[in-house]
Amino acid sequence: MESSKPACHRSFLLLRNLFYVGITYALTASIIHLFQNGYIHDRLHPPSDLIAKPTPTPTLGVISRLRPESLVIPQDDFLGKRPHADTYANFTRLIEVCRGSLTGLEKMRNVYDCLKYLAGRESEYYFIPTTNVPSKLSKDYPEIDKAQKPNNSSIGPCPGPIIPYHTYWTGPATWRVEFFIKGYLHTQNLACSRLYLWLDTDAHPFAVPDMMRDPIFAKFLLLVERGDIILKEWKFPSRIPLPKSPENVEPRYIDATPDPVTGVTVIGDGVIREADGSEWVVLTPRQLTFLPVAVSDAVRFIVLHLWGGLYCDMDVLMLRDMRPILLPPEHAFAERWAVHTHPGDYNTAVMSLSANSSLSSYLLRGGVRMGINFHPRIIGRMAWKDGRNEEFAMFETGLFDPIWGEFNWGREGRCSIPCLRDYNAAFMGEVGYVKNSGEWESWDREQLKEILPREKREFVLRGLPRLEEREKYDISLDLYPPNNRTMANFFRGAYTYHIHNQWKKHPQPNSWLDVVMKAHDGFLAKKRKNPYGEMWEGFEVGRYERFMEFENF
Ligand SMILES: *[C@@H]1O[C@H](CO)[C@@H](O)[C@H](O)[C@H]1NC(C)=O
Ligand SMILES: *[C@@H]1O[C@H](CO)[C@@H](O)[C@H](O)[C@H]1NC(C)=O
Ligand SMILES: *[C@@H]1O[C@H](CO)[C@@H](O)[C@H](O)[C@H]1NC(C)=O
Ligand SMILES: *[C@@H]1O[C@H](CO)[C@@H](O)[C@H](O)[C@H]1NC(C)=O
Ligand SMILES: *[C@@H]1O[C@H](CO)[C@@H](O)[C@H](O)[C@H]1NC(C)=O
Repeated sequence: MESSKPACHRSFLLLRNLFYVGITYALTASIIHLFQNGYIHDRLHPPSDLIAKPTPTPTLGVISRLRPESLVIPQDDFLGKRPHADTYANFTRLIEVCRGSLTGLEKMRNVYDCLKYLAGRESEYYFIPTTNVPSKLSKDYPEIDKAQKPNNSSIGPCPGPIIPYHTYWTGPATWRVEFFIKGYLHTQNLACSRLYLWLDTDAHPFAVPDMMRDPIFAKFLLLVERGDIILKEWKFPSRIPLPKSPENVEPRYIDATPDPVTGVTVIGDGVIREADGSEWVVLTPRQLTFLPVAVSDAVRFIVLHLWGGLYCDMDVLMLRDMRPILLPPEHAFAERWAVHTHPGDYNTAVMSLSANSSLSSYLLRGGVRMGINFHPRIIGRMAWKDGRNEEFAMFETGLFDPIWGEFNWGREGRCSIPCLRDYNAAFMGEVGYVKNSGEWESWDREQLKEILPREKREFVLRGLPRLEEREKYDISLDLYPPNNRTMANFFRGAYTYHIHNQWKKHPQPNSWLDVVMKAHDGFLAKKRKNPYGEMWEGFEVGRYERFMEFENF
């Protein structure tokens, strides 16, 4: 008797403590999640209108292999003909249309109008220059209509300068690396582009040979051979060359003289001139020992300084040919940080700089001087203070990350198409979610014709082999039934979509990302066209692996 009460009390205490631990854990996890992804995903209490209502039968009560790919016939060539290889985008126009004035920012929050303009009015912001036409700059360039298409053995010649695209990765390949690469192959002008995959070797010395043996990356080995993809070892350099310039000399070093032994002259903080006249940013041994956590923030500035072209984070999906925004001589740009109003608040997930330029040198030196701190908003504010942001165009989120302004700031105008309210939404294919998410709220055109009558959907899309099998697919039992999503309506007009991390998550069948994956695989299997109506000319590239958690064979 005596002991039962304390025992009871003890177990109460235990339960209470467990409860507190649970709460603390949930809170901490949410906070970490919030930092990583920018939104809270409450697993215990998802918004009730977003949960699939429990069906009486097992949720995956269908054989997923028999599921039709779509409820509609997608229009794959929705972007029309690819822009001519000499096309420039008019940066001034793009900024005015999607931002408004520099101080007023009247249009910054209206992504719908920005995308509508981008998708429909190319002729107003694309043009072919009349002087210094890129394809005429060298007599080695073939004529545009004579340039051979890529084939199995050759990527084909580019009638003009080839633009490098860079991305950075650490560790083995995942479906996200595949997604990035396939997005590139699906949309870019391949003969005129090269994809540099920078693999971190500071922490993983064998990153490049490991990648060459990686089972997921194996799909792309023939493209490494053909020259489309170039694997590069990333090692933090101890010194970085600067183009020789009077700008490199800081005022208080103006009278510096060469060291009599080495011939080296210190011409600025962390900047030297060698005896042969070359000028360098030099990192101290201390800086090299204590590399910042955010190495990738620095990689993009160093790589673009040395190589030029475009840098994209691996979580950026390319949706359109980016050449017209990379080709103009003055093409330095980055994105705005969400809808922050400060003119120095850049985001560098998508960024372009000219190699060895005054701007790239300036940004590089700034980041090194601040202790290898290349946080975009810190670098950006520095550039703004020094009056350098005029040279560094800031594009609005509509171009690269159309939903960034949606969920935590006041959007103005209509929601984009699709209307996704958080970064999780692109992964969702569950029937209840699709029905209740309101993702079509801005769609006011005719509905796409569904190829199956609503009453009878135990079908027949690709001539199923046997009658018994045909009867086994019942759309009403499918948790992830086919729907009317197509890539043509996935932020049409935007150059990229930014997934924002979420590296471990898999897209559900028939989610927007899954629809994009099917478009990639259909194209690379030579069954579907890309958005520019082109067929894949190379060898077949393996399909995505299926995510087993969604399968029911
Ligand atoms: C670019 O756009 C600006 C602003 O709309 C316009 O004034 C300028 O003429 C355009 N430039 C070209 C080359 O079309
Ligand atoms: C592939 O393209 C290259 C260069 O464009 C060309 O020289 C070669 O003959 C082509 N090969 C085949 C098999 O068509
Ligand atoms: C930039 O300068 C470095 C060193 O001078 C040189 O190796 C590199 O080729 C240059 N990059 C470009 C794209 O011109
Ligand atoms: C897709 O279907 C939804 C209803 O499920 C509808 O509201 C929407 O307009 C359709 N979208 C298109 C492009 O047909
Ligand atoms: C290209 O390679 C594929 C194998 O990946 C082969 O089926 C196809 O016939 C080849 N095409 C040409 C033109 O050689």
